[in-house]
Amino acid sequence: MDAPLRIGLAGLGTVGTSLISLLSRQADLLAQRCGRPLQITAINARDKSKDRGVSLANMQWEEDPVALAKSDEIDVFVELMGGEDDPALSSVTAALEAGKHVVTANKALLAKHGVALADLAEERGLLLNYEAAVAGGIPIIKVMRESLTSNAVSRVFGILNGTCNYILTRMETDRISFDECLADAQALGFAEADPTFDIEGNDTAHKLAILASLAFGTRIAPDAIYLEGITSITIEDIEAARDLGYRIKLLGVATKTAGGVESRVHPAMVPLGSAIAEIGGVTNAVAVEADTVGSLMMSGPGAGGDATASAVAGDICDIAKSRPGHQHGPVLGQPAGTLLPHERAPMASHAGGYFIRMSTVDQPGTMASIATRMAQQEISLESIVQRKVRDDTGAAPIILVTHETTEQAIRKALEGIAADGRLKGEAQMIRIEKLA
Ligand code: NAP
Ligand code: HSE
Repeated sequence: MDAPLRIGLAGLGTVGTSLISLLSRQADLLAQRCGRPLQITAINARDKSKDRGVSLANMQWEEDPVALAKSDEIDVFVELMGGEDDPALSSVTAALEAGKHVVTANKALLAKHGVALADLAEERGLLLNYEAAVAGGIPIIKVMRESLTSNAVSRVFGILNGTCNYILTRMETDRISFDECLADAQALGFAEADPTFDIEGNDTAHKLAILASLAFGTRIAPDAIYLEGITSITIEDIEAARDLGYRIKLLGVATKTAGGVESRVHPAMVPLGSAIAEIGGVTNAVAVEADTVGSLMMSGPGAGGDATASAVAGDICDIAKSRPGHQHGPVLGQPAGTLLPHERAPMASHAGGYFIRMSTVDQPGTMASIATRMAQQEISLESIVQRKVRDDTGAAPIILVTHETTEQAIRKALEGIAADGRLKGEAQMIRIEKLA
């Protein structure tokens, strides 16, 4: 058996400590499968005195992640700190410049600097592996980067954030508040250090940006993604959706259109009984639609220490199996220098059905205003229901579902209804996702 692969690990939080446990627990199996033992030889985090709940014996503490990244005592640098800039960026860059392979679970870093880092890794003939960065334990990066090479992808979409899916599921099944669900997700180690990245949709956007690059051969472009999080979703929306035969999911969707790539992250209605509607809790799902393979969907745990560590360990094992001088495949499926500019399709041209929930003034003419404004935009309604007037506000809740229309049309219709003085507060608008 070859000499152990010496690992430098920066980040000893949820994922870092799970990785330490996993490499210890599965040491024999991993050594057998990787052809050499995997050994964490040096570590770094912010607080040296913190009890991590795992043994750090025989691991040298480094004060600085950049020094760790370029240390002569390691062969591979594993970045599990998080954050889109330093020290994640400086340490990963330092590792590659020092000739070390890198593994990271950091989608924020890759969304912002992935192309430059891929370029550097390819120039130096090094591996930059990031399976855990998208959909936790689901091996979607390998599938997109390697297994689907012969396919022209038309759409990639899915539930890409475990925290949000956990919150939406528990709001529906347990009828508990958004804040309580989020606190539980944090306690379970699913959420980002700053959970607004989860609930405002940024984390999903980071992952979608990486998937879109792999799918369409374009540069990673997180800023080209239309973004809405789940903070405005109420138990009322979830129940209204269910009454209409839908479930609300936070989706990331990237579609190739004639006008460019339409990338969007927002809560979406998916039909009850569809495979994606059945994905509950922290589970993620990624669906790919392509010309040769057709449609496929992978699901599995999208967050949490063990699931994420499983993906990180797989990436480390690939490095352990690689041989010096071997030419590695490109980081983003094709050489970073050949990635096309990302052409963004405008969200205004998005076509689909819409669910609208409005609090309206309970007066004659409200229904007429809604019907007129919708007709002016040539929007055809699938259903419209007025619920009992609320005792507390005197508002009449109206829920409608449209047939396919455009984002531009629906926004204009809602502006018109508001201008007619018919709305109490903002209308809730949730897109209905067309599934194959
Ligand atoms: P975490 O629990 O917050 O742990 C982060 C670790 O990084 C901590 O040990 C922290 O040190 C260390 N750290 C943070 N800033 C640092 C700095 N400036 N210098 C040195 N060390 C620093 O995070 P996590 O949940 O393990 O996530 C780690 C990475 O994996 C992130 O990129 C995240 O997006 C990604 N990820 C997480 C999951 C998940 O389910 N949690 C899933 C997939 C991907 P201290 O402990 O001393 O404060
Ligand atoms: N906070 C992320 C999530 C971690 O909830 O999905 C996995 O990337």
